[in-house]
Amino acid sequence: MTRSIADTPAWQALTRHAATLRPKHLRDLFAEDRERFARFSLETDGLLFDYSKQRIDAQTIALLADLATEADVRGWIARMFAGDAVNGSEGRAALHTALRSSAASLVTPAGEDVMPAVRDSRQRMRDFCDAVRSGRLRGYSGEPIRAVVNIGIGGSDLGPRMATAALAAFAHPALRIHYVSNLDAADLAPVLENLDPRSTLFIVASKTFTTLETLANAKSARDWLLTASGDAADAAMAQQFAAVTANAGEALRFGVAPGKLFEFRDWVGGRFSLWSPVGLPLALAIGMDGFEQMLAGAERMDRHFRDAPTERNLPLLMALLGIWNIDFLGAWNLSISPYTQSLRWLPEYLQQLDMESNGKSRRPDGTPVGVHTAPVVWGGAGSNTQHAYFQLLHQGGWLIPSDFIACAASDYPLAGHHEKLLANCLAQAEALAFGSDNGDPLRACPGNQPSSTLLLPRLTPFTLGQLVAAYEHKVCAQAAIWGINPFDQWGVELGKQLAARLLPAIESGAAVATDPSTAGLAAWLRRHRSP
Ligand code: F6P
Repeated sequence: MTRSIADTPAWQALTRHAATLRPKHLRDLFAEDRERFARFSLETDGLLFDYSKQRIDAQTIALLADLATEADVRGWIARMFAGDAVNGSEGRAALHTALRSSAASLVTPAGEDVMPAVRDSRQRMRDFCDAVRSGRLRGYSGEPIRAVVNIGIGGSDLGPRMATAALAAFAHPALRIHYVSNLDAADLAPVLENLDPRSTLFIVASKTFTTLETLANAKSARDWLLTASGDAADAAMAQQFAAVTANAGEALRFGVAPGKLFEFRDWVGGRFSLWSPVGLPLALAIGMDGFEQMLAGAERMDRHFRDAPTERNLPLLMALLGIWNIDFLGAWNLSISPYTQSLRWLPEYLQQLDMESNGKSRRPDGTPVGVHTAPVVWGGAGSNTQHAYFQLLHQGGWLIPSDFIACAASDYPLAGHHEKLLANCLAQAEALAFGSDNGDPLRACPGNQPSSTLLLPRLTPFTLGQLVAAYEHKVCAQAAIWGINPFDQWGVELGKQLAARLLPAIESGAAVATDPSTAGLAAWLRRHRSP
């Protein structure tokens, strides 16, 4: 049994340090150190990361760096990049970094050079994107493709969905990309109602090709297309259904043509799969050149993460500050505040990345972690959020750290908007940190709410790649410190099994073994479903 991180001298030193720092207000910390912004901010490859509004001092960073050393984060990072089986419970590597690598070769400890297949996959994506975007690939009646529907869920949905919205300014003007994920027919049905079957391409994205939601939606979409195409059904299926998966056999059995099959390997974790062919709908939207710029941005962040010293390492600092807030200041939430409407899906994307990866309390050997792990991640695009839940951040009494994200320039230059947006972003971080006390208890804001601010020059494929890779590495570095495996998700299995068991009770009223509450709910639903 390995030692829990909480039993290390570095953790204990941080516990003692936190006792002295916790009573301090950010107002005091700024008053004590006029150089605070210079000391606690860094610029890397055009991104600015300001963490001076975190409740830390120079000793905090030194002790957190000791913690990273004690946990051998560097060793873990090196093993992940090298293709070691860091996903121990599933006996796999986690090589999402290879997907954006420009290296000529990467030979894993198992002796396989993964790069030839990575390059081949990129080339196939490029050929397909060119064919669709140029109008060469046509539907069953000869119409060019005008709409793409990506059917997937979780990691097979959120990454490309988030990035397609983020990069809408770079998108093909005549190609509409839709994302359908929910089992609820209210997701797929309205999308189909507005589409022309002659010019619609479906992409079924599922690593396992067994996911209930995705298969249900894919079957309904296939029925819709086959019904509409009539005698030309074979051509429709061959031309207008693509699959992205690590389970080629199932996709072929579903009816996807071999030429429209885009495979990726099991060493690509679902929530780390944006860089694989799971990004195909995004690549269709922005073109393969744009997609490769995003890969290049991510690779730039990979290099920074691997090479920069801890105190100048953006993802590692994000990881350490997160652990400081969660485990030493008792702040178990993380509010994600992009002041960019284009990044409106980022909070949901990061919810899966962070909470499905690190929402765990056991280490790989089954022993308890012994400390809190992933925060409760939520958020939304500012400034809308100021008119929703920010009141609670200012006066609700909870300690809730925030990540603010903003871009210096906008791609939608309506005069006057962007300056106001940026002023609001900075004002919120300032208000949260310093608060106000004008003697009126109802108006007073206590402040002392920590935040970090990440500034991008502009939202482009390259900077989006940097941003997303930074968050991926934050999550992995935290997992390495807590001693958990960020690449499995056993907790989501139980609900899937119970749903399968309960289905007959909803469908036909069959008696199933369950608790009285669930049985009562199922019976009520059954009674109220009949016309
Ligand atoms: O929610 C569980 C999960 O396995 C996620 O990890 C994954 O991203 C999602 O389901 C979809 O899985 P698949 O790509 O295999 O359909």
